[in-house]
Amino acid sequence: MSEQTPSPADSTRQRFLFDPHWRFFQGEPDFNPAGSPEDAFFQAHLLPAAGPAGVDFDDQAWRLVDLPHDWAVEGTFDPQAEPNHGSRPTGIGWYRKSFSLAEEDRGKRIYLEFDGAFRDSTVWINGYLVGRQPSGYTSFHYDISDLLNFGGTNLVAVRLDATQFEGWWYEGAGLYRHVWLLKVSPVHVIPWGVFVHAQPAGPEGAAWEVTVETELANQSEQACDGIIISTILDAADNVVATVRSELSLASGARPSAVKQSAQIDHPRVWSLDDPYLYHLKTELHCGDRPVDGCETSFGLRTLRFDAQQGFFLNEQPVKLKGTCNHQDHAGVGVAIPDQLYEYRIRRLQEMGCNAYRCSHNPPAPELLDACDRMGMLVMDETRHLDSSPQGLFELESLLRRDRNHPCIFLWSLGNEEPIQKTDAGGRIAASLKRLVHRLDPTRQVTQAMNGGWGGLNSDVLDVQGFNYNIQEYDAFHEKFPGKPCLVTESGSTVGTRGIYTADPQQGFVSAYDHNYLPWPASAEDTWKAAAHRPFVSGTFVWTGFDYRGEPTPYKWPCVNSHFGILDTCGFPKDNFFYYQSWWSQRTVLHILPHWNWPGREGQMIDVWCFSNCAEVELFLNGTSLGRQAVPENSHLEWPVAYAPGVLAARGYRDNQEIAYAERRTTGAPARLTLHPDRKTICADGEDVVVVNVSVEDEHGLVVPYATDLVHFRVSGGARILGVGNGNPSSHEADQASQRSAFGGLCQVILQATTQPGEILLVAEAQGLPHAGAAIKAEESALRPRM
Ligand code: GAL
Repeated sequence: MSEQTPSPADSTRQRFLFDPHWRFFQGEPDFNPAGSPEDAFFQAHLLPAAGPAGVDFDDQAWRLVDLPHDWAVEGTFDPQAEPNHGSRPTGIGWYRKSFSLAEEDRGKRIYLEFDGAFRDSTVWINGYLVGRQPSGYTSFHYDISDLLNFGGTNLVAVRLDATQFEGWWYEGAGLYRHVWLLKVSPVHVIPWGVFVHAQPAGPEGAAWEVTVETELANQSEQACDGIIISTILDAADNVVATVRSELSLASGARPSAVKQSAQIDHPRVWSLDDPYLYHLKTELHCGDRPVDGCETSFGLRTLRFDAQQGFFLNEQPVKLKGTCNHQDHAGVGVAIPDQLYEYRIRRLQEMGCNAYRCSHNPPAPELLDACDRMGMLVMDETRHLDSSPQGLFELESLLRRDRNHPCIFLWSLGNEEPIQKTDAGGRIAASLKRLVHRLDPTRQVTQAMNGGWGGLNSDVLDVQGFNYNIQEYDAFHEKFPGKPCLVTESGSTVGTRGIYTADPQQGFVSAYDHNYLPWPASAEDTWKAAAHRPFVSGTFVWTGFDYRGEPTPYKWPCVNSHFGILDTCGFPKDNFFYYQSWWSQRTVLHILPHWNWPGREGQMIDVWCFSNCAEVELFLNGTSLGRQAVPENSHLEWPVAYAPGVLAARGYRDNQEIAYAERRTTGAPARLTLHPDRKTICADGEDVVVVNVSVEDEHGLVVPYATDLVHFRVSGGARILGVGNGNPSSHEADQASQRSAFGGLCQVILQATTQPGEILLVAEAQGLPHAGAAIKAEESALRPRM
């Protein structure tokens, strides 16, 4: 539940998903402006805009798209385009959408809310300029009430200019997050106007005090003498506390905050294993008349950093086993549907990951909703260490939007900004920290620094962040024994899934846990550096998933990063099992490489095992190659003379066999198998099912070299949203009905329409029998949309 979901009891507030049916044009439409485009578009405060920003413009030839939409991911790869941004053109794009408002809406306040628009957006309503926002990551909203036609049609036009970048990774282009339209009465809770937080009231944590701060605006002509009722409900909708406060809001009053507090006895706290959520229902009455209402999800937990012992959640020590991630996935680019966040977080949790860093910018709100629900801690980061008016605006938006999420345990004031080393950097951090503590006194701040430790910045930060530079941790801790420490970025280990010999021509890197670049470390050294130092609160590995852009160490034809522990589809690379061994509670036994090496008979191959068993014995075709004890946080290696057959490992604890794994030499591709991540989805026009496809031999073993081109057909209530295979050098289209396998795997993402019933996906590849998967689309309530 995102912040300020309209409450069902409320008769006035309505929030509509504003995603459907936008007309889209890529480029600058040719419209012969009378003056310059500057005059036509941006001087339109006084005069209605001309051309595509204006109401009379004919956009019928423009393509219809639904949001979220990333136009860059639709483009073709171009060796001339900027490699760091994924070697795809970005440029300028326009969106226009017509909508009607009823006469009854006259007098309401109408907000248009953008969760993010990449980038440098300009918004017009009915031809009049409403606002510009350079940031592509910040959520922003405009009160558009005064420009609207009630009882008639309206036009919103948005121009985005993604020519300039904000980062050095693939950032996409377009209205890549949700847009919303909010209707409220003139007396209302302002957007992001509810802040609810809680702390234990007594020593045993039996009673908690919940503080609710609600910011209200009165944009009517009358004073409002009324009441605000804040009701706390548990997950089963039982009321656990209610507070009523009288209020008096003068006409035209600036937003003013009402502070209330309530006590909850023996609450169920939010934790990683039990991410329990309460919700707050806010009702606002003027006299006896209900005028506004909304609901806000929240959770109760305590956070504490200790300079010697690290991080504590609910007073329990938690080593932060984190990954850094950009918003990017195979097939869809940055336009990630809500359900896909859940898919991605589940993959990370399977690895034992308990923390997520939104690098290096505010995330989509739905990512945070998923982390709240699923028990994943989040370090939420503003784009820049910047205390200019724009920098403060971006941080303030982030704080106001996100501060109710129990998953967020720390704010990050920036990443690797060169100014971090200077006194100016320290003063900027101090200004940002003051803003954080004013808007959220419940959390602390850090900064992802790759230099300047011990300077003014270190004085300012509550928690010292380290990017890489393992050699600095001990010296810093010795010098500043009172300062909590966190590795805000680490790893940058590179590897291509299923590849065991570097191939610079193709842009592939070996997936053995070797270290290729000057600054990173192997996965093993990365984790040991945090695991073996109790004062280090944890580590955020760069990155959980591969992302487009930043191809390292090879450039074209490579168009993706190789830093992911999982590839762009979320298929695990071998290092996934290293982390899983030492991060998760599962028994892990994983062998690498695959065992298909025709032509290399008799040659030595390095065989590695990732395991958390006490000992592992390796066998080739039934013959033991020796039993070894597994060193803590490490791995095992055997040089093995290759012979096709079965490479098997048995894992032991207390001399009992507790795990078995094998790699068999496979035969040729003989069939396709489809693995939908869920069997039932909602027919709500938004839900997605991720279908992983494996190319298998006749015994059902994934063929590690298979690159078969798989064609997809879908019938029933779904459409293909995108395809991928995790190959960092693939130039195949993301939005297509076919994809070749890479390392025997590919992925297709289907999105539900609003038609319930059976969805049938059929996959076919030359020479192989068809494979099918049935998914049920269940009738479900649609979110209100316009
Ligand atoms: C870091 C940076 C990341 C990424 C990484 C690659 O220094 O913060 O954004 O570029 O290097 O190793």
